[in-house]
Amino acid sequence: MSLFTQSNNAPGLFISFEGIDGAGKSTHIQAFADELVKKYPKHEIVLTREPGGTALGEKLREILLHHPMHLETEALLMFAARREHLATVIEPALAEGKILISDRFTDASFAYQGGGRGLDLAKLYELEVWVQMRLANNDSGDGAGKRYVLQPDLTFLFDLPSETAESRRSAARDPDKFEQLNTDFFEKVRLEYLRRAQDDAARFHLIDASQSKEVIWKILQEAISNI
Ligand code: TYD
Repeated sequence: MSLFTQSNNAPGLFISFEGIDGAGKSTHIQAFADELVKKYPKHEIVLTREPGGTALGEKLREILLHHPMHLETEALLMFAARREHLATVIEPALAEGKILISDRFTDASFAYQGGGRGLDLAKLYELEVWVQMRLANNDSGDGAGKRYVLQPDLTFLFDLPSETAESRRSAARDPDKFEQLNTDFFEKVRLEYLRRAQDDAARFHLIDASQSKEVIWKILQEAISNI
């Protein structure tokens, strides 16, 4: 079955990429998008990211990644940026039948603010429902529309041990606020990602990111053949 026929009450397709910093997801996103263009030449592909993806969201990103703040403030700003992103980019794109690929979405808030920094997951579930709850189109005409929480149709989780990710990060770039945190922090982030994946196994495609770029690219190409 094509993923296009699945969730979100919209004709488009919503794909997210997740993983701890240094897992290598960013390396593959553009190539993945280019490959999808080849397969679906009639669908416009939108490549976006979180935090960010809108003018306001990019300003919030700059603040979030470079300024220390209270943990709950951080979670609220992540979801504020997400609300704007959904309203002005994600939902319009899905309604128009586009394929939208986001470098991170709500799973990252659970992993980083929840798993990594220790924010009570109950609060994150509240924010998730607050920001992503939608009313389904109601065919029955009885006024009782069904509610659902908007999620990506497909999420690629790049998983690898936090020590491996750390050595890749230190070789690659100047760290932002999150990237400066230690291996212990990233192991907790990783475990929360894996818990989310287990909780919603139909949505997640787990990728062993300790493999070579070439092997991972083959896995992604195969995944595209199933989209
Ligand atoms: P990242 O996506 O890794 O971008 P880059 O490749 O440019 O470094 O950086 C975004 C950072 O934001 C990353 O460390 C994870 C963090 N983040 C959260 O803590 N919570 C969230 O909800 C999101 C979306 C990101």
